[in-house]
Amino acid sequence: MSLPSLPSSLPTINLCSKGRVLVRVDMNVPINRDSGEILDEYRIEAHSRTIRYLVDSDLPVVVITHQGRPGDPEFVSLETHAKALSKYLGMDVRFIDDVIGPRAREEISKLRPGEVLMLDNLRFISEEVIEGEPQKLANTYLVRKLAPLFNYFILDAFATAHRSQPSIVGFPYVLPSCMGLIMENEVNALGKVLNMRGVSTVLIAGGAKVPETVKTIKTLLSKNLVNKVLIGGLVSQLFLALRYGNNKLLSNVKVDQNVMNDAMDIMKLFSDKVVLPMDAVQADGKVIEPSNAQSMLDIGPATIDLFINYLETTDIAIMTGPLGLVEVDQFAVGTKDVMKAMVDNAQFTVIGGGHTIMSAKRFGLINRISHVSTGGRAFIQFLADPYLPGIKALELSKSRFWV
Ligand code: 3PG
Repeated sequence: MSLPSLPSSLPTINLCSKGRVLVRVDMNVPINRDSGEILDEYRIEAHSRTIRYLVDSDLPVVVITHQGRPGDPEFVSLETHAKALSKYLGMDVRFIDDVIGPRAREEISKLRPGEVLMLDNLRFISEEVIEGEPQKLANTYLVRKLAPLFNYFILDAFATAHRSQPSIVGFPYVLPSCMGLIMENEVNALGKVLNMRGVSTVLIAGGAKVPETVKTIKTLLSKNLVNKVLIGGLVSQLFLALRYGNNKLLSNVKVDQNVMNDAMDIMKLFSDKVVLPMDAVQADGKVIEPSNAQSMLDIGPATIDLFINYLETTDIAIMTGPLGLVEVDQFAVGTKDVMKAMVDNAQFTVIGGGHTIMSAKRFGLINRISHVSTGGRAFIQFLADPYLPGIKALELSKSRFWV
């Protein structure tokens, strides 16, 4: 297998020792659409470690993150996030419903050592979703308004490091920057997976982010980085629709022609590596064959056995996305059994993505996973090529400020 090379040593948090720090975290969490309640605080708890370190170092700390995407029900203001962060830090986190305006900048300048301020959702500033080169994004209002108020930038948002957006790559261009503790932990743990390459690796790909997952599967197979891909969730409906010409399975799968073409390429080029469900559970609980299915809310018992069989002989098992509608117990069986087989058999296990982490917690398996990544797409992309835009931005910042 051709191994991607690892980033050389990146600046670490202990270098940011004096002055005001801006910390980019990823507290993009699942939200209950009706109540606005946060459904899983894993990322918030994880990032609180980095913030605690900075508070204990007596630095004034400003926290920034995005939440949801414009137009989504999860695209909300961050007051609840600040409260959750206060809980994990055991101290008051101030919140201001502003990002770059005069009120935010005034609050930032008033911040004292050891205090924490959280700004509002970065994506309320439309510039934040522009993708581009660091130099160009350093010129956005977001970066120009905030950067002069800080001495250091800390990139802890591993889960967004695959996005070349202003808050990820623009700040490191103009401020001395380093990795936060979560970023460092991810780079080390996933680097270990890369170093283990050559041993057998199974990817379990599920979830509802169909275009992203299809792209990931294609990249990992094209680079010969996984031996088998076991597919479930909404993603499998696309592949099964293509295999059986069953268009009913596409009714709730939104993809464009490019994604269709990628899925067809995968079926054609890697038919020996892709394992699709042979049965499925439909809404009324009946087990049916995919060729006749209209909806697939979980993988069926024969598929569970088949997937477990592959996991019994693998060294590394990686799960990105659940295999069914895990929010409903009746349809969580496949994900639970397969996750259990992962931890019972594989030498090194990795999971990532909000719903997968939530499931691992519910099944009582989270403490048996070797590495729980805060990243969804970012962690899979890192395995295919660790030089994510955020990592490259830190290297560039190192060459501009630290050497
Ligand atoms: C994620 O949850 O994968 C990250 O927060 C990135 O979110 P995005 O896909 O909306 O950029």
